[in-house]
Amino acid sequence: MQLVVLEDSDAVVSVAAEHIAMFVRMNPSPRLGLATGKTQEGVYQALVEEHLSQRLSFAESRFFMLDEYLGVDPLSSESFQGQLRRTFLDKVNVPHDSLETLDGNAQDIAAESARFESAVVEFGGIDLQLLGIGTNGHIGFNEPGSSFDSRTRAVDLFPETLERNFPEMTSLKTVPRRAISQGLATIAEAGSILLLATGKAKAQAIAAMVSGPLSEKCPASILQLHKSLKVILDEDAASLLNPHLATS
Ligand code: F6R
Repeated sequence: MQLVVLEDSDAVVSVAAEHIAMFVRMNPSPRLGLATGKTQEGVYQALVEEHLSQRLSFAESRFFMLDEYLGVDPLSSESFQGQLRRTFLDKVNVPHDSLETLDGNAQDIAAESARFESAVVEFGGIDLQLLGIGTNGHIGFNEPGSSFDSRTRAVDLFPETLERNFPEMTSLKTVPRRAISQGLATIAEAGSILLLATGKAKAQAIAAMVSGPLSEKCPASILQLHKSLKVILDEDAASLLNPHLATS
């Protein structure tokens, strides 16, 4: 694991965007797994800016979703697909069908999950998977207790995840409570992984992921086994780690 600790979230965003841009430049047909969430917003914005300044083309890239809410219109502002398209994909040079979606409106979620898994294999696997982390250690929407062997499937979201993702909602009854998510085994098969975390709220999850036991109680701890993992943190997210762990 390569662990990079930077001063603040702006630095995390710019170093992460540089890492992704370099990856896209170096690979003739890069296959990228895309996370959603607040941590990634600035990264997508920086990639769009890099593209607009003519320095970065995504023409040969293929993209894969990490997760999606169930029962949400795929193009609504609540859906992860809608967010990815609005903040990133619609603003760069990629054809509409270059995103392998997870359809949270599919009639048969098990069949949709199997279709997605096959698509990943048919395209040759995900080269670089971008990840955030939940305050409870989830990656994708694999909440604590998810099996390390899990594949893409329907999952129940924990109350803390709903509260964080829908802070403006007064009643959690109105928000999507289930999702479809790549499984932990699916994520772990990516050729390389870039995980970003910022803010004190993530410090405990990061400490459990990096230094805790390998345990399904902290789903992200599965990443301790990954051969090509880069973690970029701000000082707040790294605040419960032994400072000597940072590798650059
Ligand atoms: C989103 C996802 C989640 C988020 C995590 C952190 O696609 O898979 O695991 O990465 O919940 O979200 P933020 O960045 O909003 O704190």
